[in-house]
This record gives sequence, structure tokens and C-alpha cells, in this order.
Amino acid sequence: MTQQTPVRPLGGVDGGALIDEDWEAYRFRVHRSAYRDPGVFRDEIAKIWGHTWLYLGHETEIPNAGDFKTRTLGGRPLIFCRDSDGEVKVFLNACTHRGTILCRHNEGNTKFFQCFYHAWAFSNSGDLAALPGDESYPDDPGFRESMRLRQVPRLQIHEGFVFIAFTPDVPDLLTHLGPAAHYMSLTAKIGPHGMQTLPGVQLYSVKGNWKLAVENAMDGYHFAPTHNTFVGYLRETGFAVTDDDQYAYDLGGGHGLLVLTGHNGRIGMVWEPRFGDEEKARTVAKRNEMIARLGPEPAAEIADASRILFVFPNLLLFDLEALTIRQLEPVAPDRTDVRAWQFVETGEPESVRALRIKTMVSFVGPGGLATPDDIEAYEAVQRGIVATADSADPAHDWSDMSRGMANEKQGNQGRSIDEGAMRSFWRHWADRVGAATAVAGDPPADPGAPGPSAALASGKE
Ligand code: FES
Ligand SMILES: [Fe+2]
Repeated sequence: MTQQTPVRPLGGVDGGALIDEDWEAYRFRVHRSAYRDPGVFRDEIAKIWGHTWLYLGHETEIPNAGDFKTRTLGGRPLIFCRDSDGEVKVFLNACTHRGTILCRHNEGNTKFFQCFYHAWAFSNSGDLAALPGDESYPDDPGFRESMRLRQVPRLQIHEGFVFIAFTPDVPDLLTHLGPAAHYMSLTAKIGPHGMQTLPGVQLYSVKGNWKLAVENAMDGYHFAPTHNTFVGYLRETGFAVTDDDQYAYDLGGGHGLLVLTGHNGRIGMVWEPRFGDEEKARTVAKRNEMIARLGPEPAAEIADASRILFVFPNLLLFDLEALTIRQLEPVAPDRTDVRAWQFVETGEPESVRALRIKTMVSFVGPGGLATPDDIEAYEAVQRGIVATADSADPAHDWSDMSRGMANEKQGNQGRSIDEGAMRSFWRHWADRVGAATAVAGDPPADPGAPGPSAALASGKE
């Protein structure tokens, strides 16, 4: 039987579908206006960024009372701070008097934020602390109370990862994260003394749509051709590189996971020759330490595979050679800000830290062997999708993501070099923004294929 879902009249440009999924033709394609249309972008900011949990930052970025960072999410300027009592607070970075941006520094430590316009001052827990000429205002405690800094409606923290939402009506954070929470927990358990972000952030701006960054991360297909310099380098240093037995998982809720075993040695986990002999011995010791602390199975789950985790819509956790947290901020249909932090074991020896940083910058850093390739790829895609707008043949204005559909239809786990993780992202995206989709044919009976561990299936720790 063929199922034909009527095209929904929302979101599609000129009333057409943005996603075309056909399980008889094994075709999955995305209309390129989804990456460039300002109306789609506005819908995303309102319906996704305005209505779900967003990754803001890690608690260890603001370790001390009074520490703060300013940051923009979903186009809204924010103050991410630890108040004088040590509590994490997130305020809109806008003076309650007339809306002026309140804090104009990127980071620092303070008890008070003072507005430069009329000099109102607010404590780091949001109280209006000083109001020049306050005798001109009614002598009413309710007035000061009503002028407190505006906190974001929801703030929850999972394993130190701080999430916020701009509307109160979002589910509990762990419900939103589902099985993705487990993979964040694995990362958080690596260090016997905890994990922390290294001070400093790598901020870069990409001339491409934010969804291209998601696709790029969930796309194992591009690894060998795009990163052939790095692949060649790995081979020359005696490390085998393969795409076999690597899989992609749909974690539900738009979240995705690639589990990678075919390349990427990881500091302290999977040794490779370029890490040197000292690190070889430490890798063995590190595994023993994790077995003693966590048990053999969790230790193996953490250590044996590299992972790229995408938490919808803006967090990427690259647990590859070195651990990187990456955050996406859409600035315009064709512009994305990316922030990246190195996530390291608290208290690890200096020599290990130095090797970790060197390894990180050699691949996933913005000047490494991989990231510039990726940025070049998604900027090139953006140029191409602009080029095919208003094509004489409308069929030219679609991007194909059908790789692996036939395999998926047979009930097989999608490979990392297929495009299943991208398809599940796009389905969830369409659902969130109410984009028009056209579905033909029967999808696989069980699209929620089993995960890499029993824990994944249950979403439990
Ligand atoms: S706008 Fe901030 S004090 Fe007036
Ligand atoms: Fe890449």
C-alpha cells in the first residue's frame, strides 16, 4: 500500500513542499529555499529557538561567584553569570529601564551590572540595586521589584551543561534530551575529578545556514573525500582509517549520534602512534582507572568509540581526538556563529593537557586539518544553493539526502556514511517549524532502530 500524505500548507515556499520523501523511489530531498529563505529563517527563530531548550554554556565557564559571560542565543543578548551566592543565573542582557544593552563586556567578574545610559545598577542576582534620582520615583517597593533584571523563563543543568528556554512551556530538560542525556553523561564521567571547559572560546562566523553545520556534523560520508589531507596524514603516521562498522543513530527529538570506530585515536582512550609512547602507557593506566571507578562496561562504552552527538537544535559534542563542545547560533539565513570550547579532565597532568591541546588544534580547531575543510564545504554549499534559486528547471533546486534509504528500509542500522542522521534531523525540523512535507510510499516499519547499547534504547543512565 502506498501512503500519500497531503502537503501541509505551512512553511513551504510558494505553497510547495520543503521536504520530499519517497520510500518507493528511495528519494529524500530538501528544497534549497530551506537554507536561504528569510521567511523560513524567521519561522525557525520563532518556532525552534523561541520554543525549545537551547544550549547556553557550561557551568565551569563561570566557576566563581560573580563570574559572568555575555552571549547571544536565538538573537537575544544574555548574561550568563554566577551570583554572589554561587547560583547560576541567566538574564536578558537588557536594562529594564529602557532596554539598553546592560553589560557590554564579553566576560568578567562583578557584583553589579551598571547601565551606561542612566546609570541604573543591578546586583548579580538581578535586584535593582541603585537608581540615581530615586526620589523622583514613587516610594513603593513594588516599583523596584518590577524593575528586576528579566531572567529567562527556564534554566536547567544536566551534568554541568546549562540549557535555557525562552518560553516556560517546554518539557523538563531530561525529557527533552531523551537518550542524548546518557551520552552527555558519558562525557562528563571521563575525568576522576570532573570535567571543565578550558578558558577561552573559539568563535568563528560561517557564511552558511546553521543547518549546514548540523548536516556536516551528522555526515560521515564526507570524511574521506573532504578531509583527505588529514586521512593521508593519519595513514602516514601508521594509523588505519576505515569507514566499516560505524553507525548513525536517531535519538529522537531531532537529536542524532554518530558512533565512530574507524579513525581518530583519542587522548587517554584509543592510542595511536603519533601520540607517543608516554601517552601509550597512560592510555592503559587511564582505562584501569575508569574500570576501577565506573566498572568495565561503562569504561568500555566511554573509551572504545568516538562519538559525535548532536542535541537539537544547537549543541554538538565532538568526542573525537579531543573533546570539543560546539554551539551554533543562527545570525541570518546565510550566516552562523559557531562557538567552540575544549572540554578537558579537571586536574590532568600538564603533559597530557599539552598533548590534548596540540591534538585538538591539529584537527577540530578552526585552524586544524578538518574544520577549515568543513567550513569551506558549507560555505560552498551555501553559494551553490543560492546559484540554483529560480532555476529554469525547478528540479535543480533540491538537495539530495537519500543515501542508505534502501538499507534502512530493510531494517538495517544506518551507517555513519549514509544520510539517515540528516534525514531524521530534517523530519524533526519540519515538524517544529511546520514546514510542508510530501511523503510517499511506506517508511520502514521500525524507524527507531536499536541503539548502540541497551542504555540507549531505554534512555536511562
Ligand atoms: S536605559 Fe538603562 S538606566 Fe536607563
Ligand atoms: Fe568534516
